[in-house]
Amino acid sequence: MDYSSSQAEALARIAAAGDLDSIERLRVEFLGKQGSISALLKTLGGMSPEARQAEGPQIHALREAVTAALADAKAVLEAAALEAKLAAETVDLSLPAPELPRGTIHPVSQVMDELAEIFADMGFSVATGPEIEDDWHNFTALNMPESHPARAMHDTFYFPDKDGEGRDMLLRTHTSPVQIRTMLAQGAPLRIIAPGRVYRSDSDATHTPMFHQVEGLVIDKGIHLGHLKWTLETFLKAFFEREDIVLRLRPSYFPFTEPSVEVDVGFKLEGGRRVLGGSGDAPGHGWMELLGSGMVNRKVIEYGGLDPDEWQGFAFGVGVDRLAMLKYGMDDLRAFFDGDGRWLQHYGFSPLDVPTLSAGVGAVA
Ligand code: DAH
Repeated sequence: MDYSSSQAEALARIAAAGDLDSIERLRVEFLGKQGSISALLKTLGGMSPEARQAEGPQIHALREAVTAALADAKAVLEAAALEAKLAAETVDLSLPAPELPRGTIHPVSQVMDELAEIFADMGFSVATGPEIEDDWHNFTALNMPESHPARAMHDTFYFPDKDGEGRDMLLRTHTSPVQIRTMLAQGAPLRIIAPGRVYRSDSDATHTPMFHQVEGLVIDKGIHLGHLKWTLETFLKAFFEREDIVLRLRPSYFPFTEPSVEVDVGFKLEGGRRVLGGSGDAPGHGWMELLGSGMVNRKVIEYGGLDPDEWQGFAFGVGVDRLAMLKYGMDDLRAFFDGDGRWLQHYGFSPLDVPTLSAGVGAVA
């Protein structure tokens, strides 16, 4: 039999098909289970071997030609359909951009990130400790034995029950217990800062029952007050992003340091506002108390499991909320913890504004 006319007819109908649905219908008509070419293939089984040898290749050639023509026609129609779709679709560039995410980074988190960045550059790592503390770490090991008057000054929140070792449990009143925990866990030398939440039963415009501190601790050989002063000066210049920061070290008392110094920072009045910088003692200038510090008391080094004849160190503690207020100009501490979305929109930071020393730790609020 001659299949060339069937082939010519099939190819002509494929060529004439104007859309993908027609192509699919033709595929079913020729090649589907009940299709005409499939039926021809089935006749091969009933033929004599000679007839099959003559017919077989022709039927297969017919099937291949039709299959190829269908595939080609389909590809051409698909490409045309895509072209038409692209030509019909338009992008309206005048539509407003999608709204940006609304959340902001809390100034306390931002300042803590700034502190970590500044101190990392000086070789400090970040250490942490529990907010639920025992009185040994919070007081005793910091040279405040049970009868020590400084304990009473801390307005401590105590838990009703003692821990398994008979120690009173409390909410830590400062970040200083992290000094002890880190010495015991890591030994010496050490360079750490420990930012975190602390708690005291106290509440007014400048005090909230929960607030934030950052502790600093350096333990090494031959450490002296000069190292302390340089470190604090370098930190405060980087943090406030001004070179004219001047410090004044005043003798003070903390049980965990000896000698102890209170550190004041010079300010001047500009348009009725206190601006950090300037010489402190000049007319119109003044000193603002900023942080507590000193050389780590020998007894504290012993409680930390180290030999004070071999290791010395300095420590400091400063309020993170207060640093944030001074740098970014808020004046009511209580608003920090109200969770008011408007306050956060105003004083919060963009999540993309990651503090880095190279780009400036001072983010734009
Ligand atoms: N822990 C003290 C407080 O909460 C602050 C402090 C003062 C920490 C002197 C220190 C330090 O490490 O050396 O009032």
